[in-house]
Amino acid sequence: MKLCGLIGDPVEHSLSPVMQNAAFQHLGLDATYALWPTVAPEVSERIASLRSSNVLGANVTVPHKQLAMPECDDVSDTARLIGAVNTIINESGRLRGDNTDAYGFMASVKAAGLRDGRQATALVLGAGGAARAVIVGLQQLEFRRILLVNRTAGKARELADELGGGDVLAVDWESLDDSLPESTLIVNATSLGWHDGEMPISPEQVLLVSRDALVFDLTYRETDLLREAKSRGLSTVDGLEMLVRQGARSFSMWTGKEAPVDVMRRAVQAEQARRAGSR
Ligand code: ATR
Repeated sequence: MKLCGLIGDPVEHSLSPVMQNAAFQHLGLDATYALWPTVAPEVSERIASLRSSNVLGANVTVPHKQLAMPECDDVSDTARLIGAVNTIINESGRLRGDNTDAYGFMASVKAAGLRDGRQATALVLGAGGAARAVIVGLQQLEFRRILLVNRTAGKARELADELGGGDVLAVDWESLDDSLPESTLIVNATSLGWHDGEMPISPEQVLLVSRDALVFDLTYRETDLLREAKSRGLSTVDGLEMLVRQGARSFSMWTGKEAPVDVMRRAVQAEQARRAGSR
């Protein structure tokens, strides 16, 4: 039996085990995915244990994504750009660190029908860890302009300076009304959306969004933002799709096989429904 798992905070309620185990089962692979709750001082030792021949690799999640980078033998360019490793692959005792979040974001955007960003402007709400992966994804999708807006304006400016080559521009929250109509992709990468009544932009501002825009919310639920956007007939994507797509990419890296994306999506949806029912 091969092993992989998630190195995360001990209070982690990750959907990844359900999703990855469904994929192993579907393909008849003799492997299992476990939760490996880890406190920060033990991250190094935990990652070293991944070199064992029965381990395929691991996911690393908040708050350990940054700590994982120096523990790997090689780190991909994408992971370096994002500044975080979320997937480690054990290649015969050598550990390769990668990040599948930007890929998960891009695959979700493409699946929603948006293929080419070359002529387009994207607007990112938020400037934290999730926003970093989104910006790298948008750059790989070749968006012409990426507008960043954040509650703490200085953080948006810093991120734009760090990641942008002129294509990333920090804008003020006050000028959002001008940025909304010109954006063909709007991404909520703030933590606003987990509770009903929380919206990063107002319902009135949703009315300013272009008719052919895609509204993407990184939250793993149908948020008020997505509900408002849908009621206006806009295309939407939620964070669950990105979770599934980043997990599918990790799965392929560990197994060398194409991931059963539909099986993985159904597994997380069923688990989410189960958890909602038991609340
Ligand atoms: P993550 O890893 O999910 O990106 P994070 O790095 O803590 O989490 O980033 C959270 C983002 O949500 C930040 O952009 C944060 O804005 P600040 O940089 O100003 O803190 C944003 N955010 C959190 N609460 C918010 C709120 N009540 N209103 C607006 N933005 C909020």
